[in-house]
Amino acid sequence: EAAEKGGYPHFVIKEINEQPEALRRALTGRSRDGQLHLPELERMEHAGLLNNIQRILVVACGTSYHAGMIAKYAIEKWARIPVETITAAEFRYCDPIVGPETLCIAVTQSGETADTLVGIRQAREHGAPVIAVTNIVSSAITRLADAVLYLQAGPEIGVVATKTFVSSVAVLYMLGLYLGQSRDRIQPEQMREFLTAMDQLPDQIQHILDHANSKGDIIEPLAKRMASVNSMMFIGRGVGYPTALEGALKLKEISYIHAEGFPAGELKHGSIALLDPETPLVGIATTSHVYEKVVSNIQEVRARDAHIIVVATEGDENIRQHADDIMYVPATLEIFSPLLASVPLQLFAYHVAVARGCNVDQPRNLAKSVTVE
Ligand code: AGP
Repeated sequence: EAAEKGGYPHFVIKEINEQPEALRRALTGRSRDGQLHLPELERMEHAGLLNNIQRILVVACGTSYHAGMIAKYAIEKWARIPVETITAAEFRYCDPIVGPETLCIAVTQSGETADTLVGIRQAREHGAPVIAVTNIVSSAITRLADAVLYLQAGPEIGVVATKTFVSSVAVLYMLGLYLGQSRDRIQPEQMREFLTAMDQLPDQIQHILDHANSKGDIIEPLAKRMASVNSMMFIGRGVGYPTALEGALKLKEISYIHAEGFPAGELKHGSIALLDPETPLVGIATTSHVYEKVVSNIQEVRARDAHIIVVATEGDENIRQHADDIMYVPATLEIFSPLLASVPLQLFAYHVAVARGCNVDQPRNLAKSVTVE
């Protein structure tokens, strides 16, 4: 097992460090001459299954659901098709309105999650075309899908999803760009800008990891200081919102610290009552069109004496006056920011859990794939 961990103390930290490579594999060969290529979808295209799509449903659970939430922003932005992301266990009981004009995207790294399988089976019975996004070749979801987009992230042994999250989000971005391209919604120069920014992401994640491994980085010492708190809050807006949800899920899964993610603007409608000096808050404040709004939400929280940790874009000096601790990530396009902002949050959750003596690779009560409904 020590050999399998490749010199790392745990699979989780090994897999976090494998993310640049996993992402590179997900991206490789899928763009050429400023165009997005997804040959896996050709059969569906030829069968006319993608021509009349009026809406898209993304069906998933847990971390894959958060990836699906990010996909909603990307697909709506690029393809202008309405997208609903729904957690699979709810989907199957909500008598969903689906038919041949509703493209269903199943996101499941394991390909075996029972709730997702049942929901997708039901959608198929109503004639919905299905695209599966999964890491596992020949998994059950692949038999229910018209096309499969593989993550190619390599094996993920840690029960918590890390590299498969990053790869799922990347594959969903490419699907969004593909749909936008095939509907002529993206100008060639815009497409070039998106592809160039996407190609930089693996190196940018590597930069975050290298920094985290260097002396003087704040994530591990900060995690040690936070290891005894009882509760934490995570807030973000736009694509920062699912990023906040994922940051909170990672923390609770492996450290057993109660953590909640909220849309930043929603805090004042009730949950802000939970905040006190003992409840640290993590704000996702990377560069975006809602940056000022997030900062003003952080200020509201600061007035309650909560300890503020912020994920911000390198070069943002303004944020220093609003935060007690800052985790910086490189600049990218706003839509791609979750891929970078998630990485310090994974590292933070990992180091908190290690400091608390938790079993980070196999947290209590959790299984890698949930094969019961
Ligand atoms: C992720 O850290 C969790 N272990 C869990 O939420 C997981 O994402 C969920 O069970 C869905 O799994 P899947 O992607 O294999 O369908």
